[in-house]
Amino acid sequence: MNSWKKVDELLEGDILAEDIEDGNKILLKKGEVLDDQKIELLRRIGIEWICIEADEFLDFKPEVLKDKGIDVLINEEIIKQVDKKIKEIAKSIVENDSFDPKAVEEVSETIFDTIFLNYKENVFLNLIKLKNYDEYTFTHLFNVNILSTLISLEIKLEKESIKKISLSSLLHDIGKLKIPLNILNAPRALTKQKFDLIKSHPVMGREIAVRSGVSDADILSGITYHHERINGTGYPEGLKGDDISLFARIIAVADVYDALTSERSYKKAWNPYKAMSTLLQSVNAYDDKVLNTLIRIFGIYPPGTKLLLSNGKKCFVIGTKKGKIFRPVVLCDDEEIIDLSDRKDLKVVKVG
Ligand SMILES: [Fe+2]
Ligand SMILES: [Fe+2]
Repeated sequence: MNSWKKVDELLEGDILAEDIEDGNKILLKKGEVLDDQKIELLRRIGIEWICIEADEFLDFKPEVLKDKGIDVLINEEIIKQVDKKIKEIAKSIVENDSFDPKAVEEVSETIFDTIFLNYKENVFLNLIKLKNYDEYTFTHLFNVNILSTLISLEIKLEKESIKKISLSSLLHDIGKLKIPLNILNAPRALTKQKFDLIKSHPVMGREIAVRSGVSDADILSGITYHHERINGTGYPEGLKGDDISLFARIIAVADVYDALTSERSYKKAWNPYKAMSTLLQSVNAYDDKVLNTLIRIFGIYPPGTKLLLSNGKKCFVIGTKKGKIFRPVVLCDDEEIIDLSDRKDLKVVKVG
């Protein structure tokens, strides 16, 4: 569907849905991507309204990647397997206030082994796909686990520490399983009492973990302190800077990134580019080194970001090669895959 737009409201990147003529001369052709100069030209010749192509981007199609032989980080089988196990653990927490630590270790090792095996130079991260899976808390635990593990790998923590952070991140929000869904999913204008209940989830999570036999201080710190902020504005204790454990600082970044890019009952999912930009602007709240690492993994246009290229193609970021943080690999609406690090002739003209 095309739509009419006032010339004064046009944006760089809008695409013309019809030829623009002046007399019988075609000035701009249908399909042209507008830039500042072309918009100025339209103003100069006195056009007030023009028809532009609707802002519809393609949906991400993981099967296209598969067809093209592109490796994704976590395959469908593993996702299903882990999803089922996380739900069993959650059920046990809801019913018995505890879980079987062996079961959690098993899940965490499955994900860890897969990431360890598949995270190479040019692996394509498929977090986006996980967002379609069932209820938020399960998907969120899974995504935060993947992100925390990747960050720890990239920071080059010892393998034993990475295994522990994998466990801690998988458990970070288990306290939420004890909070009624109608409160968790309520619009954010909550009463103080309800908000305080939500804010108690890190401590409740710690209690559940201890009750289930988890005693490692690092693992427990990730659960208890993932909402602390470097500048002291977090909870439950308002800790600052290095008083917050490295585990908690890593999980905090993974947690916020996934929360911002996920759709919730009370908010739309942010596009990954906006989420990344927002995190980068909150440098006083998050650990610098961890934020830098997230960019090293994702680039400034993380997977799932919709882009419009200067050749008029609409596309989806599917990955970023190491060291090419400004030039991602994209999947276009005609299914062409373009590695922008090899195509200096192409510009990103719009971020969707
Ligand atoms: Fe949390
Ligand atoms: Fe969380």
